[in-house]
Amino acid sequence: MGLIAQDIITQILDRANIVDIIAGYIPLKQAGRNFKAPCPFHHEKTPSFVVNPDKQIFHCFGCGVGGNVISFVMRQERMEFPEALRFLAEKTGVEIPETETRNNPVHELRQQILRVNDVAAKHYHQNLISDKSDLAKSAREYLKNRGLSLDDAIKFQLGLALDGWDGLFKVLRAQNLSAGFLEKAGLAIAKNQGGGHYDRFRERIMFPILNARSEVVAFGARAMDKDNPAKYINSPETALYTKGQYLYGLNWAKEAVSKQDAVVVVEGYMDFITPFAAGVENIVASLGTALTIDQIRLIRRYTNNVVMLFDADPAGQSAMIRSLDLLVEEGMTVRVAALADGEDPDSFVRKYGAEEFKKAIANAQSLFDFKIKFLKKQHASGSVESNAKIAGEMLTTIAKFENAIVQAEYLKKLAQVLMVAPEALSLEMKKVKPVMTRVAPAELQPKVVVHPIRPVERNLLRLMLEEKDFVPLSRRDIVLADLQNAHVRDIVAKIFEMFDSGLEPTPTALLGCFEEQAILDTITGIVASEESIAGDRHKIYRDCTLRLRQESLKMRRQEILRQMDIARSSNDDKALEDLTVAFNQLIKG
Ligand code: UTP
Ligand code: MN
Repeated sequence: MGLIAQDIITQILDRANIVDIIAGYIPLKQAGRNFKAPCPFHHEKTPSFVVNPDKQIFHCFGCGVGGNVISFVMRQERMEFPEALRFLAEKTGVEIPETETRNNPVHELRQQILRVNDVAAKHYHQNLISDKSDLAKSAREYLKNRGLSLDDAIKFQLGLALDGWDGLFKVLRAQNLSAGFLEKAGLAIAKNQGGGHYDRFRERIMFPILNARSEVVAFGARAMDKDNPAKYINSPETALYTKGQYLYGLNWAKEAVSKQDAVVVVEGYMDFITPFAAGVENIVASLGTALTIDQIRLIRRYTNNVVMLFDADPAGQSAMIRSLDLLVEEGMTVRVAALADGEDPDSFVRKYGAEEFKKAIANAQSLFDFKIKFLKKQHASGSVESNAKIAGEMLTTIAKFENAIVQAEYLKKLAQVLMVAPEALSLEMKKVKPVMTRVAPAELQPKVVVHPIRPVERNLLRLMLEEKDFVPLSRRDIVLADLQNAHVRDIVAKIFEMFDSGLEPTPTALLGCFEEQAILDTITGIVASEESIAGDRHKIYRDCTLRLRQESLKMRRQEILRQMDIARSSNDDKALEDLTVAFNQLIKG
């Protein structure tokens, strides 16, 4: 990791108000001196996510996750620590000196790719708007025929890759961008023989794919010729771009999505552009795949309500079915819209207009209705076996709903539709384990079990975090070995270290020192909790330190006694003698 100096981190922490930053993602409600909201990191109805402006921390009492503004951004934006710092630096106008970032090769590569993509997008765009070639003329004609105006082409930064083999390559090289970077950006391909590179995209309409911050992360490229077997080709995966991590159009749609608290998810580039340009602005495209967990979490930053609108072809329908369970697992509310006559959103809007399109969205059916119809078509025989299959699949979906009342309602409905006894379904339901379609990577699973900390250690740490006077006292009165909980020990070690070097170990400063989530959770769990230490704090402090030392002595005595037993049973007189000396010292000391 390219280390960013502590004073820069401190500057960022000083300037980035955690309340403002978090309020940019979720609606915060004032509650006393804190702010509250439903946790963005796990699904819940009653808000247990707390933001504390005094300490500049957040903590969720539901899933135990917490941290400072940096860890919030890391979690929310899926960024690594340095990336989150840069993100916040930009927002707060803190400058990170070049030398600080130069040492991080991955970050450096990502920055280079962004730069390359940006230049490429501008070059393609210029080609489309003003190139004089016949190809460029027919490209403009092509877009016009697809109902797009010049304004649309500008708004969505559409472009054109010309027909040469090195048009882009030359432009980029002229800007001193290395061939290697162009290749790593996926824009150039190395020739098999004789070295050299050629452009990946040629003779195609270019759709830049932007992240939520409107940076170009990749490209989609459409052939204009109907007979081209590869209708679209896309950027390969790069250090910057992983397929299924982005949603096309989100950068333009995010405001409308949060305002309308709903999003329409379509499949293709044009399925986004045409409706959006016609005024349906709460729309994004998954780009030809089933929704991934990453995409769902992107959506969840802005809304919980999803209308799926995939093509009516088998590929679209099966991608949709796969998306639905995942959406339910992630606690989203899903409906499914359909368009008549094999139209896709692009062609439908052009044919019938935006108002009809909005109607189709408003008429979206429930997930339940959609899925049962889909299954009935698949298992059309009506036999007992096919009914059992339908029931089985529906029950897996129903089992994913967290709410028991919702589950019961769906069971009742399913029994009616399949004309089977509700009791039989309830019995079957019990057999359905809530199989999760995906297993979240460990670091994304909210930690429900928080490491148990003994009250004495917790209280002592709380005292140190709440009143700085207790830091020098503790420094004098306890040693780290007195602490049994590893996280507490790490935190206290850091507090002492900061104290020794003349720094003030405030909770905010401490949070900046750790990356391990469990440790951040421990700190914020203590700082954000409403409970406070009542009574004479100095007396409580003395009790804590006394108990800690007594317990620690006791443990060491027990350990020595245990070793003496071993020495005795192996007739190791020398060891026994040493241990006896140690034991006596311990009792005296
Ligand atoms: P479709 O085949 O439905 O194409 O693929 P489309 O979106 O209607 O394209 P137009 O309207 O003919 O231009 C849906 C999406 O799947 C991806 C693209 O993102 C496309 O928009 N796709 C499709 C590819 O990546 N490659 C392909 O060859 C085809
Ligand atoms: Mn289409």
